[in-house]
Amino acid sequence: MQNFDYQTPTRLIFGKGVVEKLPEVMAQFGKKLLLTYGGGSIKKIGLYQKVYELLKGYEIIELSGIQPNPKYDPSVLDGVRLCKEHNIDVILAVGGGSVLDCSKAIAAGACYDGDPWDLISYKVKAKAALPIVDIITLAATGSEYDCGGVISRTETNDKIGYMDRHLFPHTSFLDPEYTFTVSKKQTAAGIADAMNHTIEQYFVEDATLLNDGFCESMLRSLMVNGRKCLENPEDYTARAEMMLACTYGCNGILALGNSYSGWPCHGIEHALSAYYDITHGEGLAIITPRWMKHILNERTLPRFVKYGINVFGIDATLGQWEIANHAIEETYKFFESIGIPMHLREVGIDDSRIGEMAHHIAVNEGLDKAYAPLAEKDIAEIITASL
Ligand code: NZQ
Ligand code: ZN
Repeated sequence: MQNFDYQTPTRLIFGKGVVEKLPEVMAQFGKKLLLTYGGGSIKKIGLYQKVYELLKGYEIIELSGIQPNPKYDPSVLDGVRLCKEHNIDVILAVGGGSVLDCSKAIAAGACYDGDPWDLISYKVKAKAALPIVDIITLAATGSEYDCGGVISRTETNDKIGYMDRHLFPHTSFLDPEYTFTVSKKQTAAGIADAMNHTIEQYFVEDATLLNDGFCESMLRSLMVNGRKCLENPEDYTARAEMMLACTYGCNGILALGNSYSGWPCHGIEHALSAYYDITHGEGLAIITPRWMKHILNERTLPRFVKYGINVFGIDATLGQWEIANHAIEETYKFFESIGIPMHLREVGIDDSRIGEMAHHIAVNEGLDKAYAPLAEKDIAEIITASL
């Protein structure tokens, strides 16, 4: 087992009606808040109105229109400007992972005098960030329980996972009822995202029985409950379990003591969505089985066998290669069965920029150090196989 140094300071408040506790949480901060949200889903579900009702007496400045794959320009820059102009005390992010990620970059940028990109691109280390409280409305990223935010810069085709310990939300509110309205497409993308977060942490050299069990259970739960959420979007129990599973995805708890993964599918997908603005979870679902096929060899075989038997219940008496290949097929078939388009061409990506993207990924994502190292050529082959 590897050494680790771990701390997650975020308070999670989970369940039906928990947003009523918002005034108690916000009372710890000053009265000027930046309310961040996306394209309007929070108005349709009554959450926007609820926030105003609960926070009477606060000076609320708004930053709306934060897009999926949140953009540095204008959203992060506008948010930083608003925080500085209005001397904001706390950021309240209400929406999906994109809103929260953008808010994290704003929180750090607001406490920094230079160009916020210095922080996001790791040129400068943040010394502080504004406190962030969030009400998460989409189960997927786990951003509500981690210190990362993924920001896109269109003109340079960058999509950077910006992580810093200052970016943990102070408090995250998770009411599964607010996820009832998430579309089938976004629900399926959320399932795929959280499953891939687990897979990224499962396929490593040195893993514990403890973490393997946790990951296998996460994957089974996401498949069972994810399917129920798609069949009946208002199934509270299924939405709740899916939401909790997603929350565990990205804060490292699944990998404590494990060796390095490198998160290869994320490295590849972030470039696909930087170049083509596709939905993150869909990109991951397309890449994952092709990546699995590409890295399956004598060395990785035992991991695939374990994955196949414990996650999909494949007959353990079959041959090892048969189990491994069957497990990869089951992974593909599950994503297909929840309605995800399983080819890059279906989400608008053709072969015209594969070389350029593979080069960008090889230079920026460090996948040559991953559990199964990927050179530029491997990355191009995985993307090509995903077309
Ligand atoms: O913009 P609005 O109107 O709010 O609509 C959103 C958006 O169109 C909608 N939505 C959200 N909650 C809803 C709802 N619609 C109906 N009812 C609700 N309750 O869903 C659409 C997608 O929202 P978005 O926030 O983009 O989705 P998600 O939460 O999947 O976030 C994706 C982003 O997170 C990044 C991804 O790369 C992508 O940019 N990631 C962040 C991570 C992190 N911070 O740890 C890790 C992940 O691996 C991921 O990379
Ligand atoms: Zn992800």
